[in-house]
Amino acid sequence: MRVLSGIQPSGRLHIGNYFGAMRQHLQLQAENEGFYFIADYHALTSGPKPDDLRQHRLAVAMDYLALGLDTNKTVFWCQSDVPEVTELSWILSCITPMGLLQRCVGYKDKIAQGLSANHGLFAYPVLQAADILIFNSNLVPVGADQKQHIEVTRDIAEYFNNTYGEVFVIPKEHIIASVAVVPGLDGRKMSKSYDNTIEIFEPEASVKKKVMRIVTDSTPVEGAKDPDKCNVFALLKLVASQDEIKEWDAKYRNGGTGYGQAKKKLAELLIEYFRPFRQKRAELEQNLDYVRDVLAQGAEKAKAVARETLAKARKAVGLD
Ligand code: ADP
Ligand code: TRP
Repeated sequence: MRVLSGIQPSGRLHIGNYFGAMRQHLQLQAENEGFYFIADYHALTSGPKPDDLRQHRLAVAMDYLALGLDTNKTVFWCQSDVPEVTELSWILSCITPMGLLQRCVGYKDKIAQGLSANHGLFAYPVLQAADILIFNSNLVPVGADQKQHIEVTRDIAEYFNNTYGEVFVIPKEHIIASVAVVPGLDGRKMSKSYDNTIEIFEPEASVKKKVMRIVTDSTPVEGAKDPDKCNVFALLKLVASQDEIKEWDAKYRNGGTGYGQAKKKLAELLIEYFRPFRQKRAELEQNLDYVRDVLAQGAEKAKAVARETLAKARKAVGLD
């Protein structure tokens, strides 16, 4: 099965991105044909500084490679190296009803966050549909926040196939439900936009400091605590073994263990969890030419598929 997903290079990747998306992408590559890309055209909709975009693109590539993306099995590239998607995006735009895009909450959310209402932001789901359809994707693993965009993709593909004949594979979404929302330091969803993240590869000392800042309630050390309402525990569950989870669940409920101790344990476990990948990440940082080369080779493979689908779509609409 062809599994495709993209991630925007809009900042340093954090553990919310990892447990909410990347971990599943990496797991799915074992038994599927993975197509994963860095969605830099999409990132452009939020107006990044050019140098930040350049840096984040490489950083996302290094993060994925360090965490185990296998370039022998998985096609991995940078979206803007395959500009065929923008042409398909235009073709799809011309059959996409305005109402479909007006209903998208992603656009409304970003405007509410203070982004300017540019056309790219409004047309974002059409470009995402082009990403998915141009590679004949069967399955698209995404977080719950992206569900609507996959539904829009299916609608667009169906309009197109009904109007011009069968060109596109209708994809299925695969909502990553195992981890609904990873909380950030302040208890809201961990997100670059809230400045409440722990980055996957930030220095160990900084991970410790940040964990100590996680917001908890004011139950004293002796008091019984509800693990299900605690941000520290929610993060602990992601990195602890089943036995450790049981042990800490009991410590919370029985009282006598302070949040400070739980935080210390969490910092230790987080650092341990990502430690095996740090060495690889550091090596990649010393070898940027290799990283660029991997992306260039991925783009060539992706292009071969994209060109074929684009040619079919052009022919179907009469642009051949
Ligand atoms: P951010 O909110 O930091 O800008 P993105 O929107 O770029 O993150 O998210 C990229 C991917 O990571 C998406 O698939 C999203 O569902 C997932 N993701 C981001 N933050 C979290 C979180 N706190 N919990 C679970 N998944 C998340
Ligand atoms: N919009 C997705 C996000 O913000 C990123 C993305 C772009 C994507 N194109 C895609 C995800 C195609 C899946 C498939 O997380």
